[in-house]
Amino acid sequence: MSEERFMDKIIEVCLRRGFVNPTAEIYGGAGGFYDYGPLGTLMRQKIIDLWRQSFVLDEDNIFEVAGSVLLPEAVFKASGHLDSFEDPLVQCEQCNSMFKADTIIKDATSQIAEGLSLDELDKIISKNNISCPNCKGTLSKTREFNLMFKTEIGPTGGINGYLRPETAQNIFINFKRLVNFMRNKLPFGIAQMGSSFRNEISPRNFLIRGREFEQMEIEMFYDHDKENEHPRFHEVADIEINVVTREMQEKGWDEPLKVTTEAAVEEKLIPNQYLAYYLAMETEMLQAMGVPEDSFWFRHMQDNEAPHYSAGNFDLEADLSIGHMEIIGNALRTDYDLQKHAKATNSNFEIAMPDGKKVVPHVCEPSLGVGRIFYTVLEKCFREDNRGWTWFQFPPVVAPLEVAVFPLMKKDGLAELAQEIHQELKDAGYLSFYDESGKIGKRYARADEIGIPYCVTVDYDSLKEYSVTIRDRDTMKQIKLPLEDLEIALGELMDGEADFDEFKEFEQIEK
Ligand code: GAP
Repeated sequence: MSEERFMDKIIEVCLRRGFVNPTAEIYGGAGGFYDYGPLGTLMRQKIIDLWRQSFVLDEDNIFEVAGSVLLPEAVFKASGHLDSFEDPLVQCEQCNSMFKADTIIKDATSQIAEGLSLDELDKIISKNNISCPNCKGTLSKTREFNLMFKTEIGPTGGINGYLRPETAQNIFINFKRLVNFMRNKLPFGIAQMGSSFRNEISPRNFLIRGREFEQMEIEMFYDHDKENEHPRFHEVADIEINVVTREMQEKGWDEPLKVTTEAAVEEKLIPNQYLAYYLAMETEMLQAMGVPEDSFWFRHMQDNEAPHYSAGNFDLEADLSIGHMEIIGNALRTDYDLQKHAKATNSNFEIAMPDGKKVVPHVCEPSLGVGRIFYTVLEKCFREDNRGWTWFQFPPVVAPLEVAVFPLMKKDGLAELAQEIHQELKDAGYLSFYDESGKIGKRYARADEIGIPYCVTVDYDSLKEYSVTIRDRDTMKQIKLPLEDLEIALGELMDGEADFDEFKEFEQIEK
């Protein structure tokens, strides 16, 4: 029997505890579509909120928009997606199963074949005698397959439409209105969070490669001549990022290079301050979510790996149980998209600069996948130690629930007091959960399993002396403290301003 994949353990918890399940599961699912359940929805929202706060709301010159997911064909004709947004497909001549050619090669030989020509892929398949993984049948020649979902707009189907394969295009095609809104001044950024769709040949690995997924993107417009004059670069200059250069890839690398963003730009490891700024922001965001800093890096993609619109990509890759996976795409899109749409619509997208110079801005684009970040957090926070149950060590900023309130017993007024406390915590803004069923140890285990950082227990002392017990998920330590201090103590613990040992004046309870 094959060994259970680490990912399968996580999927099992996700299904059982309401994080994520396949769409249309009772009809057998539809490959590559997933629904977030009650806990998954809470956690997904926290991930989006973290991005929105630091990448959009905390910035001076960035606004968020929300565009349509279905766009007319003309948009994708101009953007190049109709001609170039393709993956190489091979089909089994016996059972008709279809595969992404580079994936099947990587699975069979560990060779990275992304970006190779159809001819090159065919040669590798034939040289290595790669056959259908399902039935061992012979594979067809490789052909290009366009990943966009096509539909018809209107009852007579006069216009072809496509579900957007990235959120970015809405921003480029609204550029004229957006630049007016931003008073024709560079630099400025437009952010968008929403669904994108790709008819992946072989969706796999749960949320990592789906056919519908969400992106949090920013198109940051700047004057190319001022690419090293980012207004807030000094704020991130000292932040260390992990980089894998092309040179390192040629020589073979074990460890990424750790370097400050400032040094990375000075030494030209990263092309400009705009890009480096986002690499620092992403580093900080992932670490805050519980992803260890040594488990991800920014790899300078080879030219043949980068998308058709990109003059350079530094994708954030994470070391996951299924291998190195791209979690975030960071592209220097230059003025490619604006020039294409300007040409196709006879528009002028030039902006007059204060010195009279006219520029079509360049674009730096951090594109964060919600599902891939969500899964990375699940995997990096998953713990299987000697507790007898698995648990998630989510930092409170991503934990779907923040506190669980338990009455020791349902009787003698304990349940009523616990419910009152639960309600008060909710009123104070905590994501609180009330649970009175089963033995207390079982309830702790259930709370740990879904990563609730703190449990509050109401017992007979609570009635006598108005105290409660808080249990820390990570250490399983417990302290007793006056009920009136609960809200503040929880706040300090969750913000990292205090840890359990700092509550010295309160009674420590032996486990
Ligand atoms: N606008 C740029 C863009 O779309 P990308 O590298 O193709 O660039 C950006 O995608 C991010 O979107 C990826 O790093 C990943 O997080 C997410 N993403 C892309 N395809 C995905 C898929 N099939 N399933 C889940 N997430 C995906």
